[in-house]
Amino acid sequence: MSHHIEGVKVYSFTPIKAPGYKVYAVENITVVPNTKVLPVLSRIVKYFRYPLETNIRLKIKSSQLLKISPEKLAYLVYLLSDIVVPLYLSRYESHSQVLIAFLENLKDGGTIVHCVALITKKDVKVFSRRPTIFIAIVRNPDQESEVLQVSNLYKISWLYLSQILKVNKNIDIPYIPLRTYTVLILFESKTEDDKYIEVTVPELHESVRVKIPIKPAEWTLEDLPPKLRGDLETIVIKPIASGASYAPRGILITGPPGVGKSVTAEVIASALKLKIIELRPSLYRSMWYGLTEKILENVLKAIKTRRNALVLMDDADFLVGRHVSIHETHVSEVTILLRYLQEQFRPLTILTTNAPELLDSALIRPGRIDVVIVMGYPDKEFRKQIAMRSAKKYGLTLSPELLDTIASITRWFTNAEIDALLRLAASKGEGKITEEALLWARSRFNINEQLRASIQNQLRWFGEQYQGIIVKYVVNDSEII
Ligand SMILES: Nc1ncnc2c1ncn2[C@@H]1O[C@H](COP(=O)(O)OP(=O)(O)OP(=O)(O)O)[C@@H](O)[C@H]1O
Ligand SMILES: [Mg+2]
Repeated sequence: MSHHIEGVKVYSFTPIKAPGYKVYAVENITVVPNTKVLPVLSRIVKYFRYPLETNIRLKIKSSQLLKISPEKLAYLVYLLSDIVVPLYLSRYESHSQVLIAFLENLKDGGTIVHCVALITKKDVKVFSRRPTIFIAIVRNPDQESEVLQVSNLYKISWLYLSQILKVNKNIDIPYIPLRTYTVLILFESKTEDDKYIEVTVPELHESVRVKIPIKPAEWTLEDLPPKLRGDLETIVIKPIASGASYAPRGILITGPPGVGKSVTAEVIASALKLKIIELRPSLYRSMWYGLTEKILENVLKAIKTRRNALVLMDDADFLVGRHVSIHETHVSEVTILLRYLQEQFRPLTILTTNAPELLDSALIRPGRIDVVIVMGYPDKEFRKQIAMRSAKKYGLTLSPELLDTIASITRWFTNAEIDALLRLAASKGEGKITEEALLWARSRFNINEQLRASIQNQLRWFGEQYQGIIVKYVVNDSEII
């Protein structure tokens, strides 16, 4: 039986497993069953398998639980009061009564969403002086506040319950009974959640679990040469940030090894305040027939709904043309990705490669890839900028004169090589960069300038071939020398 008073429901029932007890439930929202709470319940149940000897604090970390609505979570209290706790009482603590409270949003003062008392039928009229076991379920606990002062939670919950029982059922509870133990169940957000995307793929005998890492971007727009920065802002960052319908949704970054393709992908992420989901074949490929495709499909499905991250396929050369691929699985892999890249609602996707000619040509057509960024060797100014960035990273100081030296001895160097040169010079100079150490380090590098000039030329050519929007950082040879 139940009736409404000012939005609060009060009802009583006899738990199936404990006919000698009566449950008084007080709720201010309607309970809705939810299967997601069942795994949580099984974790709680563990603690009720034995007599409780001490106060217990059980932390349950999950992002799921924080997303479930309070009415669905209150279902947990039901399950506890109807099955778990009665069983426990009949076995170990039959002389006790139990108070279960589910408290929500403690950051803003807190509300009691659901409150239940289990009391032996005989004692209902006076609510005995028996000791009370208190089970507090708290969601969103505020670490800094004194929320975890359980005695407060206990008193508040008890008073709340007794007041409503008095008004609705005319049951008098003249005092706060003794409390024996507290089982404090804390639902906390799972920080891990933002570090991985976890996908479970059911298989015949056991399921396969795949974890795709999500990482924060470390490089920022300031790390790019001004020319590239400007173009990226206009063509990529601003349209995406403003949610424009014409904004690009697929980007290919190409250029020789070490010129900052991966760095640029990170810059785009940080400029858009997005994290990076890095999709690597090693993470989803399986040796079992047909499983790779299944895993990839599931991973993409999980990724599709993400709004705070972009997808990066770094060194995407594994997506080779389907006509040259000899492996059936790789062909279907590319096909799956082609289909994914065509979907309208999906996170921004960035591919990087130093061999774009190997990629399946269907990948790079506008609609899937809307912008191609071509990156070549750094010019003099950018080389200084890279050197300064690296020096900062390794805690080294560089005078303007040393910077000039670096710029002049690193013709046709890649960004990665400039970084390596600095590290080598620092080793030689034992933690200090000197002119001499720099020249010594330079002599260790073998740079084929003609070859690089011809690669730079090919990049210009590639830029002209592509039929779509292109952003180029391919400077003239004169700017490199
Ligand atoms: N804009 C930059 N400023 C400072 N250092 C940079 C910059 N870009 C790249 N570097 C340096 O060069 C290294 C290599 O860059 P990155 O990994 O982006 O190259 P890549 O083009 O992706 O190479 P690969 O083709 O081998 O994947 C970085 O780890 C960093 O040390
Ligand atoms: Mg890279």
